[in-house]
Amino acid sequence: MTGFGRKSLVWLLSSLLPSLTAGAQPSAPSPVAAPMRPLTWGQLNFLQTTDTHGWHAGHLQEPQYSADWGDYISFANRMREKADKEGRDLLLIDTGDRIEGNGLYDASNPKGQYTYDIFGQQDIDIICTGNHELYQADAAAREYTNTVPNFPGKYIASNLDYINPKTGEQIPMAQRYRKFTTKNQGIRVVAFGFLFDFSGNANNTVVQPVEKTIQEQWFQDAIREDTDMFIVIGHVTLHGPEYKALYKAIRGRNWDTPIQFFGGHSHIRDVAKYDANAYGLQAGRYMETIGWASLDGIRIKGKQLEKTSESASLSFTRRYIDNNLLGYYYHTGLDESSFPTEHGTNVSASIRDARKTLGLDHNYGCAPKDFWLNRAPFPSNDSLFTWLQDSVLPELVHLPERKGVPRIALTNTGAMRFDIFKGAFTRDTTYIVSPFISKFVYIKDVPYVSASQLLRLINNGGPVFEAAGLQKSQLTSPEHIAIKSDIIPEPEVYNPGPQSPLGGLSTPDLVPGYTTKDELGDDGDDTVHSPLTFYRVPNCIESRIEFPEKTPEKVDLVFIDFITPWVLAALTFTGEKYTKGDVLPYLKDGFTELLAEWIKQNWGQDC
Ligand SMILES: *[C@@H]1O[C@H](CO)[C@@H](O)[C@H](O)[C@H]1NC(C)=O
Ligand SMILES: *[C@@H]1O[C@H](CO)[C@@H](O)[C@H](O)[C@H]1NC(C)=O
Ligand SMILES: *[C@@H]1O[C@H](CO)[C@@H](O)[C@H](O)[C@H]1NC(C)=O
Ligand SMILES: [Zn+2]
Repeated sequence: MTGFGRKSLVWLLSSLLPSLTAGAQPSAPSPVAAPMRPLTWGQLNFLQTTDTHGWHAGHLQEPQYSADWGDYISFANRMREKADKEGRDLLLIDTGDRIEGNGLYDASNPKGQYTYDIFGQQDIDIICTGNHELYQADAAAREYTNTVPNFPGKYIASNLDYINPKTGEQIPMAQRYRKFTTKNQGIRVVAFGFLFDFSGNANNTVVQPVEKTIQEQWFQDAIREDTDMFIVIGHVTLHGPEYKALYKAIRGRNWDTPIQFFGGHSHIRDVAKYDANAYGLQAGRYMETIGWASLDGIRIKGKQLEKTSESASLSFTRRYIDNNLLGYYYHTGLDESSFPTEHGTNVSASIRDARKTLGLDHNYGCAPKDFWLNRAPFPSNDSLFTWLQDSVLPELVHLPERKGVPRIALTNTGAMRFDIFKGAFTRDTTYIVSPFISKFVYIKDVPYVSASQLLRLINNGGPVFEAAGLQKSQLTSPEHIAIKSDIIPEPEVYNPGPQSPLGGLSTPDLVPGYTTKDELGDDGDDTVHSPLTFYRVPNCIESRIEFPEKTPEKVDLVFIDFITPWVLAALTFTGEKYTKGDVLPYLKDGFTELLAEWIKQNWGQDC
C-alpha cells in the first residue's frame, strides 16, 4: 500500500489551463486546477467505469467532470502506450448501467440510437450488464444485439440469460466466463461478470441468483482452473451478500490466488479488502469517476517474481480519478497537443453531432438558482424537493374533470435523479433530472383521515411494507443518489459514508467535490477537494392542492405510478380496502414531459 500524504500532493500548473478545446464537448466548462495525487503503477493495472448512465458527453455544468467518452478513449490509449513501454499490463473494465439518465441515451427514438456506437468505441477488456439494461424489454434486446457483439469475447454474463424473441429459447446473454493471458506480463486470468440478485427485469431476460450460479458445474470447473489470478466484475456492491458468497467460493478452492473484484450499482466511490490477496474497487457514477487499481506481487507460473515485487502478499493501490482533461494530462504527463488521439477526437466529434441531432442544448428555461437533491436540507429554499413540493406539483397535478376536488399528491424522492444548476435547463437536463417514464395515477375520493396518514407511513413505517414484501429503501433508492441511505442517521446532517470529509486538510481555494473515506483511508481521490455536506431526504414528499379552509372529508390521492405498491400497502394499514383496480390514470404525459412544460411556462429564456 502506497499512501500519499500532503507532502506528495502536486498542484497542477495553471499554465496548462489556457485552451482546452482539444477535447471535451464544445459547451463543456474548463476544469479548475487542484492539488493532485499521482497514480501508482503495478504489474497489472485497471481503469474502471461503472453506472455511466448515458453521461458519455461528460458533465456540461460541472468542470470537474467535463471530459467526454472520446477523452476517456484518448486517456486509455495513452495509458496503454505507457504500460506497453514499461512492460506492464492495463485492463479496462465496465460494470454496467450504461444507459438511462442522460439525453444522449434517452432522447432518441428508439433510445440509445447513438450511444451504443459511441460506447462501443472504447476498447474494454471485461464488461457486464447492469440492472438498468434490463428494466425494459427493448433495452435488454439492444444489449443483446448491440453491446454484446461490440465486445466480442469480452462481454461476460455469468448469471444472465436472454430469451430469443423468435424461438423463445433461453440462452446465455454472453459467455459465462473468460480465460485469457495478459499481453505484457503473461498473467493468466480467469474472469467472471455478474449482476446482483435482481428481480425487476423485463420478461426477456433471466437473472439467476448468484448463490445458485456458484453451484453450477461450469462455475465449479472455472474456479478449479490453473490460473495466476481471478477477476470478478459485476454490477454488484462490494460489501453485499453476492460478493461475499463469490469470495468464499473462490477462496475456498484457491487459498492465496489473487482475486480482484470490481463493483457497481450503489453509485459510490468504494473499496473493499477481503483479505491480503483479494480487493475490490467501485468507480462511482455518471462519468464523474474513472477508477484506477494496480496490483503488484502477482506470482506468474513459470516466472520469477521481479525484484520489486518480492513481497509475500499482493500489494494493491486505488485512485478515484475525477473525469476531466487537466487530470488526464497530469496522469499521462502529456498536454493538450500531445494528449488527444485521433480516435478519441473522432468519438468526441460523434458525441457532439449526436447531441446536435437530438437538440439536447435546446433551452426550456433558465434556472434562477441551484436546486439540490442532497446538498441542501429538506425543507429549504435550496432543496429541489421543496421546489417540487411547493412550486411544481401544485401546478402539474391538475385534471380538468376533477377540478376543485382537493388532492394530495405524493412522489418518491428517488424519482428525481440529479441536481439542477443555475442557468440553462435544456432538453438534456430533463432526462438527467428525471429519466424515469413514470406517470401520475390516482384513487378517487379517498377518506381524508386515511389519505393524510400516508406520507408518514411511507416515510417511517417499515413493518407495513415488510409484510407486503416491499423495501422502503427502494423509494429513495441508494441507486439514485450517491450516498448510502441505509446508514444515514435521521434526520440531521449525516456523514455520507465513503464520501465524508477529508479530515484535517483545509487548504483554501479547493474546489468542492468528492472527499472519499474508504476502507483503505482518505487518500483515494486523485484530486483534493473541499468537502460537500449532504442531507438526508425523506422517502416521499407530498403536496396538498386546492385544499379548502375546513378539513375535507374526501380527497383525490394522486401519486407517481412507481409507488403504487407502497401506497396500496399503506392504505390497507389505515383500514381502507383498495386494490390495483382502483388506481386510475391521472395525467397522460409522463412526469418528465410535465416538468419540461412547467419550466417552459415558469422560467425565462435569458440565462
Ligand atoms: C412478456 O411480456 C409481454 C408484455 O407484457 C407479453 O406480451 C409477452 O407475452 C410476455 N412473454 C413471455 C414469454 O411471458
Ligand atoms: C477519424 O475520422 C476521420 C474522418 O472521418 C477518418 O478519416 C479517420 O480514419 C478516423 N480515425 C480513427 C482512428 O478513427
Ligand atoms: C425562502 O424563499 C421565500 C420566498 O422567496 C422567502 O420568503 C423566505 O424568506 C426564504 N427562506 C429562507 C430561509 O431563505
Ligand atoms: Zn446505476
